[in-house]
Amino acid sequence: MAKLAVLASGSGSNFEALALALRARPESEGPRHGCAMLIYDRKAAFAAQRAARLGIGSRYVTYMGRTREEAEAEIAAILSEEKADLIALAGFMRIFTPDFVRGWKGRVVNIHPALLPKWPGAHAIRDAFEAGERIYGATVHYIDEGVDTGPLIARESFDSREGESIESIEERTHEIEHRLYPRVVLELLDKIESSRRPR
Ligand code: GRF
Repeated sequence: MAKLAVLASGSGSNFEALALALRARPESEGPRHGCAMLIYDRKAAFAAQRAARLGIGSRYVTYMGRTREEAEAEIAAILSEEKADLIALAGFMRIFTPDFVRGWKGRVVNIHPALLPKWPGAHAIRDAFEAGERIYGATVHYIDEGVDTGPLIARESFDSREGESIESIEERTHEIEHRLYPRVVLELLDKIESSRRPR
């Protein structure tokens, strides 16, 4: 069993999709993995309520009044305490320092609501919509020190319909996220698990 930790700042619908997918995985589809922990950096994050409902432990880590390094040291301590193998960012609105990125290289992934490298940033769907984009989708990528710039892992796209509203595009994007992210994360956890097995 490999262990996932999720970091979120807001609603946490992707966190919930990940936790449920890990829990519901039939044995015929591969090994079981655990969702160890939710870490959140905004007191009001609805993700924490989802964790409580799912019976998953959660920890609040504040960035207020401290340096990024201090907040990251607390995050790193929780991750090693929980023996997390992989970290999934799910609407976590923070950029990590180069030291943290180096230390967790290849073990931190993110979901982004657009087809990277196009439309990075916090308002990807709105930016794409206002620019008249016709193709939308979601991307899973490794993190680096930049904003949505790390190596791509997987993308899924759809074409917008004639006159489609931004609300509808947002809804379809989230549907893709909730399917794509668990699939990719399960594959990565499988790889971690099989790399540990004696050959
Ligand atoms: C998602 O659209 C994700 O792609 C982006 O932030 C949003 C988080 O939504 N990084 P939720 O908190 O998982 O519902």
